[in-house]
Amino acid sequence: MKNECPIGLFDSGIGGTSIWKEVHALLPNENTIYLADSINAPYGLKSKEEIIALSIKNTEFLLNQNCKMIIVACNTATTNAIKELRAKYHDIPFIGIEPAIKPAALQSQTQTIGILATKGTLNSDLFHKSVANHPEVNIIEQIGHGLVQLIENGDMDSPEMEELLKSYLTPMIEKNIDYLVLGCSHYPYLIPQIKKIIPSHIKIIDSGEAVAKQTKKILELHNLLNNSNEKSSQIFYTNSEPEVLEKILNYSEKVVFKNF
Ligand code: DGL
Repeated sequence: MKNECPIGLFDSGIGGTSIWKEVHALLPNENTIYLADSINAPYGLKSKEEIIALSIKNTEFLLNQNCKMIIVACNTATTNAIKELRAKYHDIPFIGIEPAIKPAALQSQTQTIGILATKGTLNSDLFHKSVANHPEVNIIEQIGHGLVQLIENGDMDSPEMEELLKSYLTPMIEKNIDYLVLGCSHYPYLIPQIKKIIPSHIKIIDSGEAVAKQTKKILELHNLLNNSNEKSSQIFYTNSEPEVLEKILNYSEKVVFKNF
């Protein structure tokens, strides 16, 4: 029965679990399969062609597990590959994640917002298009060099992380941003560290909640909601060390190592 089939999510690593958490909170009845392609992280430094090839590999894996829908829980993969994925697998609904430029631009009082994202996202055509929609706002772009690697290594609280964040955020604070957009699904795990650096009036926006709401809407539209009364199953696969993924999930779920 298709409604009981899982929702598949993938990311270049553990970051997309920030999206999975929002989806699971809103749709606890849904079965899910999460794929962490950590061995290939970071995607943000790869070419568009490489990102498309990896996104196809991950999608094939999830479709072989009978997924009814795919969430691309990665800004870099969405902004570089979602068009190609939708064209190749046209009978499967895809949900993507893009930096939340629009809500930040619409709500900014200082008309200045900051965005922290990977090089792959900031250089993508899709991102350039969303920036072009807000010519009235000064958008300060910053590549988060090194952040994903530190998160993948479980080094969120290291002095190195603090140094990098300070160097990326200080120029934005000086330019008077009032919104900071986190344009990478790994970055919500840095919110406690970021809050220690930025003044409290600067609001942080990520896309997790919006993605969860969009997932629900699309499932309803396709009549694909899981209405079964059985306890849902949540499966996590990684092609790297399971411990970091388990830790980020607070050891609430079991992670399976798989060579994919
Ligand atoms: N989590 C990813 C994103 O949202 C990718 C980070 C990376 O692998 O560079 O962009």
